[in-house]
Amino acid sequence: MFTITEKYSYDDVLLVPAASEVLPDEAQTRVRLVRDLYINIPIISAAMDTVTEEQMAIAMALRGGVGVIHRNLSPKDQAKQVVHVKRYLNWVIHAPFTITADATMKDVKRTMKKHDVRGLPVVDDAGKLLGIITGRDLRFVNNDEQKVSTFMTKDVITVPVEITPERAYEMFGKHRIEKLPVVDKDGTLLGLITFKDLQKREENPDAAVDSDGRLLVGAAISPSDWQVRVPMLLEAKCDFVVFDTAHGAAKSVLEALRALREAYPQMPVIAGNVATAPTAKLLIDAGADAIKVGVGPGSICTTRVVSGVGYPQFSAVVECAEVAQAHDVPCIADGGIKYSGDIAKAIGAGASCVMLGNMLAGLKEAPGDEIIFEGRIFKQYRGMGSMGAIASGSGDRYQMRKEEKPVPEGVEGRVPYKGEAVNYLHVLVSGLKKGMGYTGCKDLESLRNYKQFVKITQGGLVESHVHNVSVTKESPNYS
Ligand code: XMP
Repeated sequence: MFTITEKYSYDDVLLVPAASEVLPDEAQTRVRLVRDLYINIPIISAAMDTVTEEQMAIAMALRGGVGVIHRNLSPKDQAKQVVHVKRYLNWVIHAPFTITADATMKDVKRTMKKHDVRGLPVVDDAGKLLGIITGRDLRFVNNDEQKVSTFMTKDVITVPVEITPERAYEMFGKHRIEKLPVVDKDGTLLGLITFKDLQKREENPDAAVDSDGRLLVGAAISPSDWQVRVPMLLEAKCDFVVFDTAHGAAKSVLEALRALREAYPQMPVIAGNVATAPTAKLLIDAGADAIKVGVGPGSICTTRVVSGVGYPQFSAVVECAEVAQAHDVPCIADGGIKYSGDIAKAIGAGASCVMLGNMLAGLKEAPGDEIIFEGRIFKQYRGMGSMGAIASGSGDRYQMRKEEKPVPEGVEGRVPYKGEAVNYLHVLVSGLKKGMGYTGCKDLESLRNYKQFVKITQGGLVESHVHNVSVTKESPNYS
């Protein structure tokens, strides 16, 4: 005798409105991502090859979210992209590129070009600061064989390590300079602050950053490649890794998770995907610092129809989040989000944040070119289990062996072009905040503990959507 229980997806439920003193724009959206890493909006861009590479990861983190760089890239290229994200925004650059006084101006040009920087502190063999050479100095060079010592500025304005961003800003203005070397009391170079970095910080006050002011970024790994990827990602200063698998409760995933935990305890690990309380507990027991929930809800997924297996996403999040919360482990709702209101529902179900593929794949910052089709602009979006993505390497996400003939669990398609992430993320987060306003939840913790939902009928769903009208002007948050 078996029982079949009813489970729900986002479309089956609605948050119940309540008396509220919370104005939407006052609602707080800061949340713990994993261990002691926090993000300022609860949105992660999916580890998919049509969603997150370095450009998307930078855009996400600048607006307060975070991106997970996909793993259909070689370990070297993935780590390189992480380095680019980590170098995009700095407070103090702790190991700036330097040059010696007896190097030539040709060396300076080569070093600047190679590392894409516009200034180099000049140091002696012991690391003492002797001067600085910047892009401006290059303009007066007529012979590349001349020594750095001829062109460098020797009278360098420096700052001690205790400097604050406010004070650094003042120094840049007062001395009309663009680089401030940080030195100890003996004049040894400890770091570098650039005006460009401070300006970017000012323009992006909500950026999700690490303790050194660098953008947060994650990278996807698998049970078969983590031993190669993780050391390179650690070296690249990657903030966390994501065991990116379709079946997080598979023995191979749990074993790899335990082994990774043991080998690199310093690296925060998000692991998934699961959809039930017992499997969530397996991941937590194996050492996951956060769990990712979703078996088959994704817009490009065919797992449920191909295999007959899945779990409606709203219930999956409710059940997994309960276990996760009991162990103080964040729970990420991955896949199936179609509208900003679903983000509010996912967090109301107990998730700390959501992972989005479809909703972000049409953004300018997503990998790939815009495609014009029947006069409209689109971008490609495909499942990591689609034929195309498997051919690029992601078959092991679905426990396929390399030599096996691929059987896809996802499709390839296109989504409408949506412009820049900055505007679209604002629309998404505003929708979430409206949900918090309607329910009187001042922050995400309150929304997680709110727990007031109603189940709706098919009639309720029809009523919820636009009806009995021909839409004449497209809305940025409804289609
Ligand atoms: P959305 O709904 O945001 O979902 O497009 C993104 C999530 O879907 C998962 N994913 C897949 N699942 N077959 C699947 O069954 C696939 O080909 C596939 N590709 C991605 C993944 O968890 C992602 O974050």
